[in-house]
Amino acid sequence: MKKTVQDYIRTIVDFPHEGILFRDVTTLFADPRGFRMCIDQLLHPYAGLEIDKVVGLEARGFILGGAIAHQLSTGFVPIRKKGKLPGAVISQDYTLEYGTAVVEVHDDALASGEKVLVVDDLLATGGTAEAGIRLVEKLGAEVVGCAFIVDLPDLGGRRRIEALGHEVHALCAFHGA
Ligand code: PRP
Ligand code: MG
Repeated sequence: MKKTVQDYIRTIVDFPHEGILFRDVTTLFADPRGFRMCIDQLLHPYAGLEIDKVVGLEARGFILGGAIAHQLSTGFVPIRKKGKLPGAVISQDYTLEYGTAVVEVHDDALASGEKVLVVDDLLATGGTAEAGIRLVEKLGAEVVGCAFIVDLPDLGGRRRIEALGHEVHALCAFHGA
């Protein structure tokens, strides 16, 4: 009998490159008990807090963010990779293993002073999450929390986000990422 969220996450060896252990959350999402447990645990620290919007990071953060926003009765705002959003956007660069990438948000998606929960499936180097946080803050909104299913502590993302002054909530960790 599977008991924890971590138990539902599948590890694929050598994807997308040799030597990488890919933590695959599709097996967690596909399981009714696992997915409900995951959403319940992600939002647990924020129950009772004032939250105006949930911000999800493309792509797997959308799956979580939609469900969490529904549960908290908030709006949902997507942060997307460059060129996908139709309206006027603001942009933020971030560093990848090789090179840089850009994420964007609609410039009217958040109002100044709104309280925001940022969600994604996985925290590795923290580059994606930091870019998302910077976009939220550029719009004058306030990040009240950053929630992830998986933390890969060896890659330093938690320290990076905490150094920005934000708490990290992660449901599980895989060492030796
Ligand atoms: C993965 C993961 C996180 C990010 C974490 O997304 O879903 O969003 O990497 O890495 P980081 O902490 O080092 O930034 P990916 O960029 O592979 O894209 P996807 O979610 O669209 O598949
Ligand atoms: Mg992602």
